[in-house]
Amino acid sequence: MGRVAYVNGRFVPHAEAAVHIEDRGYQLADAVYEVWALFDGKMGDAEGHFARLERSLAELRIPMPMSRRALTIVLRETVRRNRVREGLLYLQISRGVAPRDHAFPGAETPPSIVITCKAVDRSAAQAKAEKGCAVITVPENRWGRCDIKTVGLLPNVLAKQAARERGAVEAWFVDELGLVTEGASSNAWILDSDGVLRTRDTNANILRGVTRRTLMDVIAETGLKVEERPFTAEEALHAREAFITGAGSLVTPITAIDGKPVGDGAVGEVALRLRSLYIERAKATAV
Ligand code: PDD
Repeated sequence: MGRVAYVNGRFVPHAEAAVHIEDRGYQLADAVYEVWALFDGKMGDAEGHFARLERSLAELRIPMPMSRRALTIVLRETVRRNRVREGLLYLQISRGVAPRDHAFPGAETPPSIVITCKAVDRSAAQAKAEKGCAVITVPENRWGRCDIKTVGLLPNVLAKQAARERGAVEAWFVDELGLVTEGASSNAWILDSDGVLRTRDTNANILRGVTRRTLMDVIAETGLKVEERPFTAEEALHAREAFITGAGSLVTPITAIDGKPVGDGAVGEVALRLRSLYIERAKATAV
């Protein structure tokens, strides 16, 4: 059996899976999404992603289309039908299909649900992490509600493409004060020159990363010091280490920013250790 997607109540071959042309996610980016990392076929950080999904929907006044319990069953069934063990599970919920009009359609319009699942080569990802990756910086140009995980990702798309064209894996947005907000699809961290782990606070206009949150708990058990305090790109260059976190990148060391080495340019030992500890935790708690 090939890849299968879930679309509005039906499992369909991935190649034929489609939504209506007047789906508001397609026409207006009026939709939210979540991504779970899969470990041995189970959802990592399940609770955190569900909580954020419910919050994103509530902020946009899109009703949760089914209970969390029912949604979990459908998500799991998508994973099962795709026979994915290590991978990524994607869920998108839009405000539904209605004649194009910026204002909300009638309350009777059911939200649209799409779920896809794909395998990830975790040993290749591990090898990449152990080599270290590069980021570039780009000016922050996103809207003021980056805490909501919407599919309106055009600035992120352009930033990521710029990174790709310059041989980097990620782009860090830098705000008007010169402070790093986050990556195009990850949160940004440093181990500063004083040995303190730092990442942007969630009062800032960033996505409240689920991986970021769990890693905070993991760090608390290591005895390392962590502060939710912003840093500039310059500080990151003078830091001991830098890394990114997210359901896709897990914890990935960053060794260069805009073509310049972070610290001595070596792959961060602390970042690699946190990567192992995070994966261990995510595997142990996956459901
Ligand atoms: N991205 N910041 C942004 C802008 C993101 O898009 C993501 C996740 C994160 C990290 O969040 P989390 O730890 O909850 O995955 C931070 C997903 C993986 C994506 O867009 O594919």
